[in-house]
Amino acid sequence: MSPVTMTIVAVVTLLNVLACAWLIWWTARRQPGEVAEGEVKDHVWDGDLRERNNPMPRWWLILFFGTILFALAYFLLYPGVVRGTLGWSEDRQYRDEMQRAQRQYAPIYTAFAGRSIVDLAKDPKAVALGRSLFATNCINCHGSDARGAPGFPDLTDNDWLYGGTPEDIVKSITFGREGVMPPLGAALGPQGVEEVVDYVLTLSGHQEPADKVAAGRERFALCAACHGPDGKGNPVIGSKNLTDDIWLYGGSAATLAKTVTEGRHGKMPAHQWLGDDKIRLLAAYVYSLSHP
Ligand code: HEC
Ligand code: HEC
Repeated sequence: MSPVTMTIVAVVTLLNVLACAWLIWWTARRQPGEVAEGEVKDHVWDGDLRERNNPMPRWWLILFFGTILFALAYFLLYPGVVRGTLGWSEDRQYRDEMQRAQRQYAPIYTAFAGRSIVDLAKDPKAVALGRSLFATNCINCHGSDARGAPGFPDLTDNDWLYGGTPEDIVKSITFGREGVMPPLGAALGPQGVEEVVDYVLTLSGHQEPADKVAAGRERFALCAACHGPDGKGNPVIGSKNLTDDIWLYGGSAATLAKTVTEGRHGKMPAHQWLGDDKIRLLAAYVYSLSHP
């Protein structure tokens, strides 16, 4: 909330509280010309309906004024019209809690510091800790079993976009990754897309019409810069290996045509904020998935 909005809301709230106080005081006070408490009032409704003067019980009235005092005290202590004399703020509470958690849990993670990731991947305790970190931070994209989904890589199959050494995995997690496959529909035209897709399918052992495959092989020159002349990909830019029949977005002719025509843009967010110790445990868990 911007400071201006906050002040408007606070002032309106304060006016409301004060208006309530005035209303309660006004209704509770003795009206001029009123009969004594418990007496029948002189007004008659519907011919025979009469009313006694029964004011609100005193304890009830006190309760009302109590809530108003509570509201005013709250206004003074917490940020509202003024900053609040307690000095409380959401940011500060969040920071304090994070620091407390850091102090409490850091020793659990630092206990594993200084060991190699391959070594950690063989330690059931480290792997279990890595798995729970994965459950908190990664499963919304990579799935609870780390097998991924279209667009989100399977981390269990030892097939890597960016390389599967412990260092590569740490780098993927720490700094994130971004794969950009440009849209090539305009450059190739619909027929060109069809031909190059047929050729790409043969790279992973599918049978396609020979004439189209020959035409597609020529068109693949456009792709070779990134996917390599043999189509095996380049882990530096995360261009996929197109020969292993493992697909990030799907390997049907229709999906391949969509990929080539419209391009793809996979983005793995950076997780540097987790800190080295947690990242190494995560990497150990990911590494263990394809190195049982
Ligand atoms: C917002 C979704 C998202 C989250 C959260 C996420 N990832 Fe990813 N991750 C991706 C995508 C998408 C890619 C593939 C990027 C690309 O296509 O270039 C990827 C790639 C990777 C890779 C590289 C895989 C390879 O084949 O080289 C690793 C390792 C990885 N993620 C691990 C993790 C871990 C561990 C976490 C949790 C700390 C995590 N990811 C959280 C979306 C996510
Ligand atoms: C500028 C580099 C570049 C060029 C040129 C390029 N690609 Fe790609 N391609 C990539 C990258 C990077 C990815 C991974 C995208 C991601 O991670 O989201 C990719 C992904 C793909 C995929 C998805 C594979 C899967 O597993 O789902 C296919 C298919 C593909 N490219 C085919 C081609 C074809 C065919 C051509 C030529 C017509 C081509 N690419 C040209 C960089 C390129």
